[in-house]
Amino acid sequence: MRVGVLTGGGDCPGLNAVIRGIVRKGVPDYGYSFLGFRDGWRGPLEALTKPLDIPAVRGLLPRGGTILGSSRTNPFAISGGVEKIKRNLQNLGVDALIAIGGEDTLGVATKLCEMGVNVVGVPKTIDNDLSGTDYTFGFDTAVNIAMEAIDRLHTTAESHHRALIVEVMGRHAGWIALHAGMAGGANIILIPEVPFDIVKVCDWVESRFESHYSPIIVVSEGATPAEGTMTLAAGELDAFGHVRLGGIGGILEKEIEKRTGKEARTTVLGHIQRGGTPTARDRWLATRFGLHAIDAVHDGDWGKMVALQGADIVRVPLSAATAELKLVDAALYAEAEVFFG
Ligand code: F6P
Repeated sequence: MRVGVLTGGGDCPGLNAVIRGIVRKGVPDYGYSFLGFRDGWRGPLEALTKPLDIPAVRGLLPRGGTILGSSRTNPFAISGGVEKIKRNLQNLGVDALIAIGGEDTLGVATKLCEMGVNVVGVPKTIDNDLSGTDYTFGFDTAVNIAMEAIDRLHTTAESHHRALIVEVMGRHAGWIALHAGMAGGANIILIPEVPFDIVKVCDWVESRFESHYSPIIVVSEGATPAEGTMTLAAGELDAFGHVRLGGIGGILEKEIEKRTGKEARTTVLGHIQRGGTPTARDRWLATRFGLHAIDAVHDGDWGKMVALQGADIVRVPLSAATAELKLVDAALYAEAEVFFG
């Protein structure tokens, strides 16, 4: 049996630990050989490969990024893309694929599986917004990076009596903002699931200054103002039709200054949240996902995604995991509101 492995979409800390787990179990326990595909779905589409054996996965645990490379290539947006993938897999003698990715990469995996390709999925995203799994690896690292940034911003905010805004990643879901914001003691947390009212935000900013403290505002890049309160410019789209985000922090900064007369400044954490070495928790989760993904291949359990539920790694249908995103619910967000203002 020859198993192909690919990593697609935005990279995240822990991808290499998954690859290592797959190969370290698959070679000795099942006698499989592996082939790495480069740059997400572009790999099988253009037959871009990389040898993948035990020496190739040595020393990978602390390494961020992905040794296979990644891209946001969508084979369904390319004419003849699926046929090319099927042909290349056959020519390369690849019997099964493990796709490590988020909603887009696994969305492609779901459709390919329905078209007869043997696929197992592994959930990855710093955004933690995939359904079927309690957590995705990469999330814990991103939250810790954002929390440390918030800790640092508190001290400089106090020195200069400024409102400091931290823009974190989170396209559709506010998990990073909520976890890092609560852990870092943010005074306002704005997430995509709950459109914000700029008047209320400015009231919280003012009340924080009145108590002689400086406000820290954590905002997800995908947060939006409530309808009819402020306008945002449209950005360019990627191959999956997503808008390139980034900039809500700067918009908030101007509005807060204009409405409160207080100085506001923004720090955009951006890709810093995705780079560098994974936390112990992410290495642990990613390694377990790798071990269980190769077990699923061995069982011929195609169309499944490995997932964390409680302390257990289970298998859920890829179609269910990619049907809808896992968003922050109103009750959870309300818990954080206790600390606003
Ligand atoms: O999907 C994960 C994510 O980190 C989102 O939070 C963010 O919007 C996006 O990736 C950014 O992607 P890119 O690296 O392509 O700009």
